[in-house]
Amino acid sequence: MRISVVGCGYLGAVHAASMAELGHEVVGVDVDERKVAALGEARAPFYEPGFEDLLARTLATGRLRFSTEIAAAAGSQVHFVCVGTPQKRGEYAADLRYVEAAAESLLGVIESGELVVGKSTVPVGTAARLADLVGEKVPGAMLVWNPEFLREGFAVQDTLHPDRLVYGLPDGPDRATAERVLDEVYAPIVARQTPKVVTDYATAEMVKTAANSFLATKISFINAMAELCEATGADVKQLADAIGYDDRIGRKFLNAGLGFGGGCLPKDIRAFMARAGELGADQALTFLREVDNINMRRRIRMVELAREVCDGSLLGKHIAVLGAAFKPDSDDIRDSPALNVAAQLQLQGAVVTVTDPAAIENSRRLWPQLDYATTPEEAAERADAVLVLTEWRQYRELDPVAFGEVVASKRVLDGRNALDREAWTAAGWTYRALGRRAG
Ligand code: UGA
Repeated sequence: MRISVVGCGYLGAVHAASMAELGHEVVGVDVDERKVAALGEARAPFYEPGFEDLLARTLATGRLRFSTEIAAAAGSQVHFVCVGTPQKRGEYAADLRYVEAAAESLLGVIESGELVVGKSTVPVGTAARLADLVGEKVPGAMLVWNPEFLREGFAVQDTLHPDRLVYGLPDGPDRATAERVLDEVYAPIVARQTPKVVTDYATAEMVKTAANSFLATKISFINAMAELCEATGADVKQLADAIGYDDRIGRKFLNAGLGFGGGCLPKDIRAFMARAGELGADQALTFLREVDNINMRRRIRMVELAREVCDGSLLGKHIAVLGAAFKPDSDDIRDSPALNVAAQLQLQGAVVTVTDPAAIENSRRLWPQLDYATTPEEAAERADAVLVLTEWRQYRELDPVAFGEVVASKRVLDGRNALDREAWTAAGWTYRALGRRAG
């Protein structure tokens, strides 16, 4: 099939290459010339394991190309909308300007019988509005909502092997056609008996925000338990293991620590609350405000803990921060808890050196006043305390004995409960973590 993908960020670029991998002829369209040029030369504009290989492989088949011109989308049977929906400045609501611009530009090139497929995370009600617009301007063209659940760091795997497919379809005669076309797009995935939920627009839109809200709630739940563990001397990691053995609860997303960040969870729960308010159903989601509060308190607590281990004052203390990305295997620093804590420490008088395997360049652009180092050893030279704030494998596997040689004081704060406490304490380190007793 001929497919266009509008918007070539994390979602769109990976989606475009994945569709080509499935055998389709794909054009990715983005207004950012540098991004389009990089993608066309098989260079990923962001860090994503496995993506560059997939890009090189699919470009080499001749089935994938990228363009800055929306006209390149003409003639495709299916048009995916994969643009971002960031948080509006000064408001909780999602900023839909990119979705609207993408839809508007597509209206100039699509023809009757073609399918517009929304993948961006949008407030419930958006699809119905866009469907009206499409139907009015291009009679016979159809719109479906098909949310994406990929995680950064696993984007290729999640796109090619999703847990489920969700189709939000129009009512009426187009419904069966739209489903058939989507099934053809995802043929190998459908053939694997991947669970498929066929539903209406509103449910499809809400599945995505509900899923992200649940994940955020799960993380904040365990972080609330961590606060209580600190008050009682209990251990949050063992608590998570023990409750996680119950299948109904499950151990995944019960890792207590600095909490969630990134370009999705924080802004999605806020946009969901804003939308509920518009719909007069704000009470249903007031708990998400608490989810957000618990999450933000973790960052403040981390700074307090750093002050505590630095004998009550951060002034002039040398602090090494290992990790700047919002999670490992990513260079994304959007709402990164790690970078947020690093910046707060610096603002409170500490001399902070940050290191990260992939996110230094992005971090330096956002926080040029922090110091940066390329290795953990360099960052930790003569440090009064070391904070592990993003659980990259490199940091989890540090040898506490050798690493102890470079610091001024062997004090480690494990912001992600990711280090082997016994090994670090045995090597003479004072170990502190959120939700666990001092070691
Ligand atoms: C999230 C969802 O997991 C995806 O399913 C969704 O498609 C995506 O948002 C999106 O809306 O596009 P992502 O933002 O890539 O994916 O990252 P997650 O793996 O969900 O992690 C989010 C944050 O939670 C990270 O800062 C991570 O460190 C934190 N986290 C995760 C915890 O603090 N504890 C955990 O147990 C798990």
